[in-house]
Amino acid sequence: MHDFNYVNGKLYCEEVRIEKIAMEIGTPFYLYSYQTIFNHYNAFKKALKEIDPLICYAYKANSNSAICKIFARAGGGAEVVSGGELRQALEVGVSPEKIVFSGNGKTEKEIGFALKSNILMFDVDSEMELRLLNKVSHSLKKRAKVVLRVNPDLNPQTHPYLATGLKESKFGFDFNQALDGYKLARDLENIKVAGIHMHIGSQITSLKPFVEGLDKVISLIGELKKIGIATEYINVGGGLGIVYLDEEPPCLDNYARVVISKLSGLNIKGIFEPGRVLMGNAGILVSKVLYRKETAKKTFIVVDSGMNDFVRPAFYQAKHRIEPVVKKEEKEEVVDIVGPICESADFFARDKKFPRVETGELLSIFGAGAYGFSMASNYNFRCRPAEVLVSGENYFVIRQRETYEDLIKNEKMPDILET
Ligand code: LLP
Repeated sequence: MHDFNYVNGKLYCEEVRIEKIAMEIGTPFYLYSYQTIFNHYNAFKKALKEIDPLICYAYKANSNSAICKIFARAGGGAEVVSGGELRQALEVGVSPEKIVFSGNGKTEKEIGFALKSNILMFDVDSEMELRLLNKVSHSLKKRAKVVLRVNPDLNPQTHPYLATGLKESKFGFDFNQALDGYKLARDLENIKVAGIHMHIGSQITSLKPFVEGLDKVISLIGELKKIGIATEYINVGGGLGIVYLDEEPPCLDNYARVVISKLSGLNIKGIFEPGRVLMGNAGILVSKVLYRKETAKKTFIVVDSGMNDFVRPAFYQAKHRIEPVVKKEEKEEVVDIVGPICESADFFARDKKFPRVETGELLSIFGAGAYGFSMASNYNFRCRPAEVLVSGENYFVIRQRETYEDLIKNEKMPDILET
């Protein structure tokens, strides 16, 4: 469910006409609906309320301060994977005991920062990380709470780049080596084992991988008990898929039912790290048509946003719903919708049936709220788009469009080129 709807052929976000925003601030821009974000968070929480979950929003999906603050105000925690994301969580007021630090490449500095911030726990990815964490904890006279990320070796049936729980994946402890990891963690003086973590992939559209993953993790919990290691938390990760076009992901209630059935009776606290399911359909990218171009083979619609602004189609061959912001009764044609970047992968849709649009018309790319702006770059020395939040009948620019000055502000001309 989301709050982007057509009224008399014009696209609205909540009660704001999107054309009006484009006229006032220009294009391209990301646009998010406050109400949708809030509803998604509450629906997730409600579905799992029986087990009183700790919901740690995955900051990588969208780390704009205003967005993060919506989750913080709603009582959500944060899953962070860098010092920057951790800072962002603290800045928007997430209480440290609701922050979990994941990722496979935490630096010593980031670990120190997280320890000093008294975060809830670290999702530890490897033996070397455990040892470094122990060392830094020791020097700060702390005891770091950890869960080990375990790789359950299963196929989440998603895009290969989005699968993280396969044996060949770089993430987590190999399932068969996990017990050794736990023994090491138990014996390290400045480490406190708190439980187990899995994150098997993203945009998962079937329940089966979650069931398989949880079964494996729960069997490991049994093994841990035998060697005297108690499990206080299971972190189930994120990964639940959403509808972009015609996918049929499990609904929240079915996902929750499975997780609850696996966790109930274990007396273990459940942690969740949803990203896409909260933010994906809470945002769109609005662009303007620059040109139509007809070649012998194709009709191209060239828009003013590119793969630097929104990389999912180029990177994962992701298919997103695209519509004109103002619908007219135009005949459909088959087009490629492409950006201005000097790369052939710079497309948003290929061979797509689309109503005829002309220069100046606005297009909306739906499902762009997660992994949209957060993956944007300055490739081709382009300024990244503005970000806008709508609430009711008001809109707020929550990130200014970048300027040329922003692009060069950290550059330095060496002396040898100054003369
Ligand atoms: N927890 C961990 C440890 C993760 O690595 C991720 C995502 C999440 C939670 C949140 O997963 P979600 O609920 O959003 O599926 N850029 C890609 C997605 C990469 C996901 C990376 N990890 C895309 O645009 O599809």
